Amino acid sequence: RMLKRQIACRSDINRMNAALLAIYESLIPPEEEKAKQKQLLALLDKIVSKEWPGARLYVYGSCANSFGFSKSDIDICLAIEDANIDKSEVLLKLADMLQSDNLQDVQALTRARVPIVKLMDPETGISCDICVNNVLAVVNTKLLRDYAHIDVRLRQLAFIVKHWAKLRGVNVTYQGTLSSYAYVLMCIHFLQQRRPAILPCLQGMQPTYSVTVDNIECAYFDKVEKLCGFGSHNGESLARLVWAFFNYWAYCHDYANDVISVRTGSMLSKRAKDWTRRIGNDRHLICIEDPFEVSHDLGRVVDKFSIRVLREEFERAAEIMQCDPNPCVKLFEPY
Ligand code: CTP
Ligand code: MG
Repeated sequence: RMLKRQIACRSDINRMNAALLAIYESLIPPEEEKAKQKQLLALLDKIVSKEWPGARLYVYGSCANSFGFSKSDIDICLAIEDANIDKSEVLLKLADMLQSDNLQDVQALTRARVPIVKLMDPETGISCDICVNNVLAVVNTKLLRDYAHIDVRLRQLAFIVKHWAKLRGVNVTYQGTLSSYAYVLMCIHFLQQRRPAILPCLQGMQPTYSVTVDNIECAYFDKVEKLCGFGSHNGESLARLVWAFFNYWAYCHDYANDVISVRTGSMLSKRAKDWTRRIGNDRHLICIEDPFEVSHDLGRVVDKFSIRVLREEFERAAEIMQCDPNPCVKLFEPY
């Protein structure tokens, strides 16, 4: 009987794994979308270089970090060397130029936390946000992309977690839940912690890439092609990792004391970071250290109401992964 049950269990896991992989595959952007993004980028490049010849456009966020779904908006950073520019002025000027070039829904949001110009390209149907000199985001985008090249299970796990978070309504920072960026960092840290480890800690290795941005030194080992096969001693399937990820955040994480840190590949204490009390609006109820801006807690958007929502969602997901032989329907049920 025991053997029969084990075999049934194994076939459940295989089925679960196949279902999760199918969802992952369905979310990957097709090649023609990438081509359209390139086309729009070339157009914007032409417009921008007329006014700012030395400036460069960088794609960051989900279209460049390899964690983007099909039909994502593009995040673009306009990098201008001149330190004396006024960001709002640049954005207003840019908005003007985009409008006269027939781009649609052009809107300058100069008072946002990250000031941007929004636009929609009628030719490709793609929407995008352009910010100015947010170079740290370009660098952390590269870090995420480099991690994704080491083991495909990171991209698979992060796709499933992001998809879950979007459908369950816990990927809305202005409602106190977490950004996609935070969820990807949680996935990287989780895979660094598996035994055997599935991901290394790139910032803990001899740096092969180093830039200083806004007085922050960003350095890490980026020759990731040398690390393929790093996680091969660990044979855990996607289904097993998704289960363990939710189980960790539902039942094992020490919310009172711990900070997850991709930078060190380990757990830090809130005490060591002086993140033990509320300062202003930062409550530190779930602590995720930014890999470069180390004073930045990506959980700072979370408040005493949304922490409950988040933890209940982690528990719900863990429960479904534990008990439901066919978990995908319930797991991704819109809230
Ligand atoms: N970012 C950041 N600090 C934050 C939030 C975001 O530096 N607190 C930067 C990161 O470079 C991130 C990018 O902004 O890659 C976009 O963030 P986000 O929208 O959370 O992630 P996406 O990968 O674009 O996810 P989505 O598919 O949901 O758009
Ligand atoms: Mg985005």
